[in-house]
Amino acid sequence: MTKHLVGKADDLPPGSKHIITIGGRSIGVYNIHGAYYALRNLCPHQGAALCSGHTTAFVTSSGPGDFSYECEGEIVRCPWHQWEFDIKTGQMVVDPKMRTMTYDVSVEKYDVSVDEEDRVFVHI
Ligand code: FES
Repeated sequence: MTKHLVGKADDLPPGSKHIITIGGRSIGVYNIHGAYYALRNLCPHQGAALCSGHTTAFVTSSGPGDFSYECEGEIVRCPWHQWEFDIKTGQMVVDPKMRTMTYDVSVEKYDVSVDEEDRVFVHI
């Protein structure tokens, strides 16, 4: 497994995402409430750029007119046919057997001559 620099942690604040290309693979790196996740930018349905879709919440309902939002910022909705995926696991919300690839992410100190800065790395 090789680690690849994504960028400064300060440039990827909570609620943001950054799409990078590593070895020809497009990958979306997300900061969800201060934790980082990386997801293949490829929808398993028909190949859309999944990470270009809206980041949203999981909507639940106990009946007509009643709904609530859960897991705010943890769901990405594919821009082509609106299938939704859990960013943390890569699994489709309504059918967890369907999934896209996920990657490990680490945050490490990076020595920049005088200052140390946190940098985000994806491991492939
Ligand atoms: S290509 Fe993503 S839902 Fe169809």
